[in-house]
Amino acid sequence: MRMKVLLFSLSLCTCIACSVSKEEFNVGRALDYCDEQVHRTLEELSNENGIIDYRMMPRNIMDSLGTWHCRKASKEEWCSGFWPGILWYDYEYTEDNTMKETAEKFTSSLKFLSETPAFDHDLGFLVFCSYGNGYRLTSNPAYKQIILDTADSLATLFNPRVGTILSWPRNVGMFGGHNTIMDNLINLEMLFWAAKNDGNPYLADIAISHADKTMKYQFRPDYTSYHVAVYDTLTGDFIRGCTHQGYSDDSMWARGQAWGIYGYTTVFRETKNMRYLDFVQKITDVYLKNLPEDYVPYWDFNDVSIPEAPRDASAAAIVASALIELSTYLPAEKSLEYENAAIKMLTSLSSEKYKSGKRKPSFLLHSTGHKPAKSEIDASIIYADYYYMEALLRLKKLNEHKKSID
Ligand code: GLY
Repeated sequence: MRMKVLLFSLSLCTCIACSVSKEEFNVGRALDYCDEQVHRTLEELSNENGIIDYRMMPRNIMDSLGTWHCRKASKEEWCSGFWPGILWYDYEYTEDNTMKETAEKFTSSLKFLSETPAFDHDLGFLVFCSYGNGYRLTSNPAYKQIILDTADSLATLFNPRVGTILSWPRNVGMFGGHNTIMDNLINLEMLFWAAKNDGNPYLADIAISHADKTMKYQFRPDYTSYHVAVYDTLTGDFIRGCTHQGYSDDSMWARGQAWGIYGYTTVFRETKNMRYLDFVQKITDVYLKNLPEDYVPYWDFNDVSIPEAPRDASAAAIVASALIELSTYLPAEKSLEYENAAIKMLTSLSSEKYKSGKRKPSFLLHSTGHKPAKSEIDASIIYADYYYMEALLRLKKLNEHKKSID
């Protein structure tokens, strides 16, 4: 694909999607804010002797609270890789070697995941956000092996009859079959990476099969998504689409659609197959068309209590990060539309309404984790912070790239 050519052809003059111009958003200031909050969190995690338990990962801060609720890194705790990932992003931004050492220490708490059988599909979230970023920034060969071993472990959940990875082995009985959740798309990046970095080339075939089957069955004709697709374990036939974390089986759960947008952007990057580029625009456009004015979605687009329903800042951060990348693959007009949409999302997230600021050490407020389970509603959640910082770094790089070719 002519990514570089298209990137070079981006125009800075027209603003199609929104009234916020790029010049108004100060990405450096937003990244400085993230760095401050990272230091606040590290201070909070240190005991009175300055000692940190590197196994305890910040997970959330409920609306009424001001300090992180941490959970011990474990195979069941799918969010354990985001905090090490944030530390790697902070190191990437600041180039502070102390931050690198801290990132290494938290990251090493996840090594066990490469040595135990896969508990579920979340291995990509867990190991690629932590070790993946660590390897990208340090080329540490030990990290490479850990990622390769984890990718092999994730591949054990692939069912060739179905053509997708089983997301939740523990829930096969509950759903009545092989379940694949939309979030699973995010784990494909690690498989693509492993296939290209001395792992088994079959890992990329698994990722492509998963992406294709998901594209065929897990989206409705209007390009909104089911959170869960259930398939017959033996025949591979699609049984039904339903929800687990969304409002209803037929609704568009905001973070599910966000994972789809992010996931197919990655699949296009890794395959350069135009089918995915075409598809990701369709699932993006239905998401963008139905956003509220500030571009931060309600937790589910079909909750009947909107506008009283809670927002999901995490979905906005995930989509902002995806759109900054996606904008670099598209012709000028569409590219600018998506880039401006991403900037509008980041502008809202960086405003007083969504920023934790002095109130809490997290970056963002107002994410919704699992509303049907009454869990993490209107809270700070670690993955919102992770994708917010990732989006900011991507925007910084895009701006620098444009300046360099001006
Ligand atoms: N299970 C991942 C999510 O809540 O988005």
